[in-house]
Amino acid sequence: MSLRAIDWLPDSVCRWTPLPMAGEAIVLPEAEAELVVDVAERRRGHFIAGRVCARAALAELGHVDAVIGRTADGAPAWPDGVIGSIAHCGDAAVAIAASTQHWAALGIDIEIDRALPDDAAAYVLDEAQCARLAELPGGLARWALPAFSAKECVHKCLQPLRGLFLEFSEVAITFSMDSDRYTVEAKSARAQQAMAGFEWTGELRRFDGLLLSLLAARRL
Ligand SMILES: CC(C)(COP(=O)(O)OP(=O)(O)OC[C@H]1O[C@@H](n2cnc3c(N)ncnc32)[C@H](O)[C@@H]1OP(=O)(O)O)[C@@H](O)C(=O)NCCC(=O)NCCS
Repeated sequence: MSLRAIDWLPDSVCRWTPLPMAGEAIVLPEAEAELVVDVAERRRGHFIAGRVCARAALAELGHVDAVIGRTADGAPAWPDGVIGSIAHCGDAAVAIAASTQHWAALGIDIEIDRALPDDAAAYVLDEAQCARLAELPGGLARWALPAFSAKECVHKCLQPLRGLFLEFSEVAITFSMDSDRYTVEAKSARAQQAMAGFEWTGELRRFDGLLLSLLAARRL
């Protein structure tokens, strides 16, 4: 299944699938299957669905039969010339891939679109961020999950790009009320340093009871 074209992401392809995946058993390339030998069935299903989406996106970019390994940090290992990101939640898996010609890092996250529990919101958002989101239409109940999801995208971009593991408090997310866009603000010196030199574009989409966040970094 494809998502609406992402017009601001040239040469990118995004694919998603509902979970559990229907159809015959999917056979992964051996190098991928080895990555989920001793894991629970549910985790294996999510992994497979993510890889299926990623492979479909890569095929459309001309990388047919690609094998998507895993880095030591858990990130997908993309073929040369491509970057991307994978996510899954209880109901869906999604992947995006794009040419490195245009983008230095991509992050994607998918969540079931429901209010984030209060304790989780308190963990990922400090008081100032909670207060800002509470003022938006729908309040914290509507915006805490998107803020969490956007921060997951920050991690998925920055960790492979800079080898850096930021705390949730080190960035703040601001949502546009006129568009689907969001911006990421660095709140610590090392977040500022890590984000410098790139233009960051974030987008949020709600569809089919799901919430999808995307973040892309373009080298300045
Ligand atoms: C890695 C992490 C983002 C995964 O989130 P999750 O909700 O458990 O799972 P998701 O479905 O969203 O994403 C899982 C996918 O992320 C990808 N991933 C894992 N580690 C990654 C990393 N270091 N960099 C980029 N992508 C990574 C993988 O593709 C993984 O799927 P796979 O193992 O099937 O290939 C999360 O566990 C984590 O460590 N977060 C860090 C904390 C954070 O976000 N801090 C905020 C910074 S501002």
